[in-house]
Amino acid sequence: MLHEKADFCRQLIVRAGELVMEGFGQTRAIEMKGRQDYLTEVDGRCERFLRAAIAEAYPQDGFFGEEGGGSDAATLWVVDPIDGTANFARNIPHFCIAMAYVENGRAEFGAIYNPVLHELHFAVRGHGATLNGKPIHVSGVSDPQAATVELGWSARIPNADYLSAMSGLLDYGFNVRRAGSGALGLAYVADGRNEAYAERHMNSWDCIAGLLMVEEAGGRVCSFEGSEKILQGGPVLASAPGLAEPISEIMHIPLAAPREEAR
Ligand code: IPD
Ligand code: CA
Repeated sequence: MLHEKADFCRQLIVRAGELVMEGFGQTRAIEMKGRQDYLTEVDGRCERFLRAAIAEAYPQDGFFGEEGGGSDAATLWVVDPIDGTANFARNIPHFCIAMAYVENGRAEFGAIYNPVLHELHFAVRGHGATLNGKPIHVSGVSDPQAATVELGWSARIPNADYLSAMSGLLDYGFNVRRAGSGALGLAYVADGRNEAYAERHMNSWDCIAGLLMVEEAGGRVCSFEGSEKILQGGPVLASAPGLAEPISEIMHIPLAAPREEAR
């Protein structure tokens, strides 16, 4: 059943990507949900498409999405119809659709699809992570002076917290970047394009697929399980193993025990 759902998710997210691309690169109405928090009509259209397709195929499963909300359920789809909406709204081709399937508060598989580059990152718990079907691994870099950390930002956290985290990372020797899609930022840790991703607060729809991906690609992550994290979000850290401990200390975000110890 899980593998059948995972196959369904792979196909569905690519169809959602086609729908999103129909609206990319056009002048469009933009609404602001809050400070620097964008919403386009395409976000809502994509989420409605995904919600309807999942409800038809798996009516017993719950759905929790960035735009329409939802509630927790024993079997739950957690969906961000466009992550990187500010990029999408400005015609910057760095955004994605993110989907995770969660059972009893724990992600069992996750998908992150960049429809511009046709890149599908996918992970199934215990079965590794892939990019367009090929296995991926986190970076082997352990020298901070050769490492890049993506630091996410939102208005949900005071500016001072972001600035002190950035300053701590820079002082330690890291390069710090921010590309505006937390889900893609995590996928890029899984495939070794960045050494780490950290953010003081993320919603589950932005991070739950990516955290599983990094773990399955051999990285270290914070814990992000249970109903409270799914509904309220929490701090996020995902890193190549050689750099996880100093980044965890600088960010004050604890790491979960490595996979082998957790078993
Ligand atoms: C945001 C982006 C951003 C991250 C924020 C998210 P949105 O999602 O992922 O990179 O730093 O925490 O809220 O608004 O583009 O869907
Ligand atoms: Ca998002």
